[in-house]
Amino acid sequence: ALAAALAAQDAAPRPDGAAARPYRRAVVMTMGALHAGHLALVERARELADAVVVTIFVNPLQFGPTEDLARYPRDLEGDVALLTGPGLLRAQDVVFAPTVDVVYPDGDPTVRVVAGGLGDVLEGASRPGHLDGVLTVVLKLLHLTRPDVAVFGQKDAQQLAAVRRMVHDLDVPVDVVAQPTVREAGGLARSSRNAYLTADERGRALALSAALAAGTRAAQDGAGPDAVLAAACAVLDEHLTTGDAVDYVALVDAATFTPAGPATTDALLLLAVRVGATRLIDNAPLALR
Ligand code: PAJ
Repeated sequence: ALAAALAAQDAAPRPDGAAARPYRRAVVMTMGALHAGHLALVERARELADAVVVTIFVNPLQFGPTEDLARYPRDLEGDVALLTGPGLLRAQDVVFAPTVDVVYPDGDPTVRVVAGGLGDVLEGASRPGHLDGVLTVVLKLLHLTRPDVAVFGQKDAQQLAAVRRMVHDLDVPVDVVAQPTVREAGGLARSSRNAYLTADERGRALALSAALAAGTRAAQDGAGPDAVLAAACAVLDEHLTTGDAVDYVALVDAATFTPAGPATTDALLLLAVRVGATRLIDNAPLALR
C-alpha cells in the first residue's frame, strides 16, 4: 500500500503554487501519541513539499531493556484523527504506521548504523545504543518513503545532529530541516512523555525551561561556559525535590556535541532531568562570546 501511494505521489503533476514549495515529497517521522510539536513538523513539511508522508512507529531498537517501550503511549486512532483534521494532511498525503514485523521482518537487523562519538555522550551515555537504534530506523524509513526532505524537531537536538551527520557521512540523498521546539504556555516542551507526569511533577518540570532561560540570559550578559552552566544548575536546584534527579546539564558545540568553548557561536545548552519517574530532555541554542 505504501509503494502504491508513493507511486501516486510521484506521478501526480505538480499543483498550482508548487513553485513556492521546493520539494516534491517530505517525510515526518514520529513514534505517535502526536501533540502540537509533531503537528508543527507536519505543517512545515506541507509548506516545503507537494506531498507529505507521516510515519508512526514505536521503534523497539531505540529503547533500552529497562526503558518504557511496553508502556510508551500508543493511540493510532487519535493520531490519525489529528492528522486528518481540517487543514493538515491533504488527499495525496500518507500516514505510514507499520507493525514491528513489517519494519523488522527478520527480527532485529544484523547490519545497523552506528552513531560513533555522537552516540556516546549525553543521551548516548545515559541510553547506550539509543542513537544507533534511532539512526538505523531513520535510514530504513528514508529508504522506504524516498523523501526529498525530512523534518526533525530541535527538541531532540542530539538526534537531529546525529541524523545530519549520518546524511553527511553516508551521502544520504535527502535534505534535513529542523523545526523549533513547540512549548506549552508555561514553557514546558511538548513531549509524548509529559502524559506520565502528575500535576505536582508538571509544576516541577517547568524547572527545565526556566533553567534554559537562565543560562541563555547569562550568555547574553557575556558569561562564559562555566557561568552559563552554573546559572542553569542553580534554577534546577531551586525547583527540583529529592525524588528527582539531574542526569546532565551540558553546553556543547551544536554540530559536534563536544564541549563549547568561550567563543562558540553555535552552542547548545542541553539538559536531561528525571522528574519523579519520568525522564525529560530540553535544550536551547545560544551564542557565547
Ligand atoms: P518522537 O519522539 O515521536 O518525535 C518525532 C519528531 O517530533 C522528532 O523529530 C522530534 O524532535 C519532534 N518533536 C517532538 N517533540 C517536539 C516539540 N515539542 N517541538 C518540536 N518538535 C518536536 O524522535 C522520535 O520520535 C524518534 O526517535 C524517531 C525520529 C521517529 C525515530 O524512531
